[in-house]
This record gives sequence, structure tokens and C-alpha cells, in this order.
Amino acid sequence: MSTKNQLLTHLKEGKGNWVSGEFLGRSLMISRAAIWKHICTLKEEGYIIDSSRKKGYLLRQATESLLPQEIQEGLKTNFIGRNNVVYFKETDSTNTRAEHLANEGAPEGTVVIAETQTQGRGRRGRSWFSPPGAGIYASLILRPRLAPNEAPKLTLMTSVAAVETLRAFTTLAVTIKWPNDVLIHEKKVAGILTEINAEMDKIHYVIIGIGMNINTPLKAFPGEIRKIATSLLIETGNRFSRVSILRDYLERFEKCYDEFANEGFNPFMSRWRALTDIIGKRISVDVIHSTYTGIVRDIDEDGFLILQDRDGNLKKIISGDIALLNQRNMS
Ligand code: BTN
Repeated sequence: MSTKNQLLTHLKEGKGNWVSGEFLGRSLMISRAAIWKHICTLKEEGYIIDSSRKKGYLLRQATESLLPQEIQEGLKTNFIGRNNVVYFKETDSTNTRAEHLANEGAPEGTVVIAETQTQGRGRRGRSWFSPPGAGIYASLILRPRLAPNEAPKLTLMTSVAAVETLRAFTTLAVTIKWPNDVLIHEKKVAGILTEINAEMDKIHYVIIGIGMNINTPLKAFPGEIRKIATSLLIETGNRFSRVSILRDYLERFEKCYDEFANEGFNPFMSRWRALTDIIGKRISVDVIHSTYTGIVRDIDEDGFLILQDRDGNLKKIISGDIALLNQRNMS
């Protein structure tokens, strides 16, 4: 652990009490000037620290930033985010950064986090609104032993982990819209972007990016997004600790990923079904050059959507964007 983070640990252990400069100097074997330098850096990182010539230093409030030392403190995972958390105050897109790191050999479990993204990317070439400090923008590097055509299952698995996290922090009805939109009251609160680098029969790596709107106020969303997006703040009137939510998500994700590796996709089919409310609904789905309408009957063991058209024929949809239709005339 870096000296700065050791100093932070001492301040945290002080639990709101003054910690003397003499004690810090002795424990860390550094000079008063060095202590002061680290205190200044911590303040820049957003920690609120009082200092007094006589009494020393007192940590009033931890930072609200998603800094690696905050995420990793008490993180109960074996490999996700354990050794490798890469943090940007600002970057273009955490998925793009993760891709570069993966190409350079970053290990499985590397987490890339940004406080804000200037070119946050969504599915199907869309952008992801990523204002500073309001949401969670994080990408995971994975190196699963799967065939490339199995990667979509990872996305569905991720949506289960994300919804279970958001449900753990609120009493809201957080649901999944196939394949991986996370909704509250039919507005999007989180989205998942999975990108793979593979040969025909082998995955080199998968990047799973998640964006969660946590403390974003309604007026911060640009007009056109305001109609379709929401945040935990908007839905509950309360602010949430992004650090706690991200930590919980990483822990759930790892459990799901291990279960997926050991037991396959089957356990997730029932979990996914329990978290969606689109089964039995009349929808339209945009697939590259066509639009299909019908009633959602299920997802299959590959994670594809099973749609029943008006003639009763079943169609498998591999990927697309769905919209709920008027629910009259259902059979
Ligand atoms: C979608 O629903 O369209 C997917 C949105 C995914 C957004 C996240 S934010 C972190 C990561 N980096 C990106 O550029 N995109 C994903």
C-alpha cells in the first residue's frame, strides 16, 4: 500500500478523532513535510481533513470519488478489482480504455472506472450520458473460456447482477428489458455494453461496461434523454453512495461469473425471468433491417428472445431494441 494510503488508513482508524502528526511520522517513518504533502493530495482527492498545529489531523469526511482505495476497502472479491483498479477523473470511454489495457495484457478482473466520460458509448452506436460524479461508469476485463457465440449470455448474466444490486439498495421495482436495459418505471437507470475480441472459436477478452445513473438530477439530463432516463436520486429523492453500490455490484458480478463458469447459463435463465416484466407483453423489436412485432414468450438457453407472431409462429431474436406496444388484442 502506498504511504499516502497508509496515512489515510490511520486517519480512518481515528474514527473522527485527531491523529497526531508525531504518531503519523513515527508509524510511517516520514517527515512532517512529507505528511503535509500527502494530506494535500488527499484533500485534492476530495477527502475533508482538518489540521491543527497542536492536535494533528482529523478526517471529517471521506471522498465521494470512486477512487481505487475506496472501492478496494472491504471489497469481498477474489479477483474482480482485487489488484487492478484503473481510475480516471475523466476519460473518453472506460470501455475504450479497458480495450487498450486488455490488448496490453491486463489480467482478468481489471476494473476501469471514470468519474466522467467525454465519449461514453452505448449499444448500437449510441452515446451514454456520463456527467461527473453523478453516475457509475465502469468496465471489466474478462478472459472467459467460452465460444464467441456464448458472449451474449454474459450480458444477460450481468444484467441480473446489476438489477440485484440496485434492488438491494432500494425498494424500487427495478426490472430488465431484454437484452440488458435496466429500468425503473419504464425509464432507463442502467445500461450494459459488452464488447468482445475473438477469433472464430476463441475469445481473447470480453469488456463488460456498465453505466448506472445514481445521483443524477433530472435537470442534468439533456432534453431528449430526460424522457427515457432516470436515476436513483430522481426515483427516491435520496443520494446514494456510489462507492457502496459499485462495490456491491463487483461482488455480485464475481459470484455470478463463477456460477456461470461452473454451472453454465441455466441458473441465470430463471433469475433473469424473475427480474423482467416483458414476458407475455406485446412488443416490437428492431433488428438491423427489419422490425418484428409479437408477444414475448421467453428467453431460450442461448439468451435469445422468443417472440410469437400473430399467426402463432415462434421466432428467435438474437439481438435488437424492443419497444412495448399497446397491450390490447393479446392472445
Ligand atoms: C446501453 O444501454 O446502450 C449501454 C450503455 C453502457 C454505458 C457504459 S458506461 C461505462 C462503459 N463505457 C462506455 O463507453 N460505455 C459503458
